[in-house]
Amino acid sequence: RNHILPTMEVWPEGYGWKKWFDEAETKFKARPDDLYIASFPKSGHHWSFEFVNMLYQGNAHSVNKSKLNNFFELRTIKEIEDMPSPRILLTHLPYDLMPRDIFEKNCKIIYIMRNPKDVCVSQFHHVSGIAEYKYDGDWDHFFKVFLKGEVDYGPWFKHVKDWWKLRQEYDHMMYVHYEELKKCLPAQIKRIAEFINKTHDEQMYLNIANACTFEAMKKNAQFKELPGIFKTKEGSFFRKGQVGDWKNTFTVAQNEEFDKAFKREMEDCDIQFTFD
Ligand code: A3P
Repeated sequence: RNHILPTMEVWPEGYGWKKWFDEAETKFKARPDDLYIASFPKSGHHWSFEFVNMLYQGNAHSVNKSKLNNFFELRTIKEIEDMPSPRILLTHLPYDLMPRDIFEKNCKIIYIMRNPKDVCVSQFHHVSGIAEYKYDGDWDHFFKVFLKGEVDYGPWFKHVKDWWKLRQEYDHMMYVHYEELKKCLPAQIKRIAEFINKTHDEQMYLNIANACTFEAMKKNAQFKELPGIFKTKEGSFFRKGQVGDWKNTFTVAQNEEFDKAFKREMEDCDIQFTFD
């Protein structure tokens, strides 16, 4: 099993990862006005895609399309080529698997990060809830494989550190913390608008933030994409949307083990995370 890439082989059908990466390196042409939203899974991708689209549209109307349409590594290279500019492309790829042309064209990239304890719990519910994964491990099992990095796009530590390091040599990066989005969404939306040159008046940032609360987005039926992918009808990409929910799942011993691993893995990295 390849732990870097999704274990769900749903898309692109019959295409295969090898072909995707070959074509991504040899045929894919990035465009200078592309925007890439990168993140480790379960860090706020749906959320960011929603308000970034609103900034592009210049209104607070929910985006009438599935996130999957814009999912970089889940579309064929031809499909990406056929997308009109400006393209917003979502990716969970680790930095070293990104096609180099993106950096040569100086494309802007927003990297969304979330504290790894909440990511771990969120990813556990994600793989347990989606039938395609055929995952029936319990929490204790998932906790161990997450720390070993044997989860989709794992390990989390390398993903975050490699993307973070890039800021030293690439000027077109912006970093956003999930916890900051939770704390003050309008200010973060404004910051992002300035980075992507899609500024609006203050009222618009407030309107967009109001349209992008967890409750508003959960209610929005169009996010019930891929009908039937969840094992139960309660399954949803919008589960709790909280900071610190990990405390309801981690045992004291697991928390200690996680803290030790975090300290060891992140000692050469100065990003600060908010865990509650
Ligand atoms: P939880 O499982 O902790 O609830 P992604 O979109 O990258 O897959 O991330 C999914 C996580 O983001 C889920 O976390 C989901 O509930 C949360 N999320 C989605 N929309 C949100 C919003 N508007 N506000 C806060 N959290 C949101």
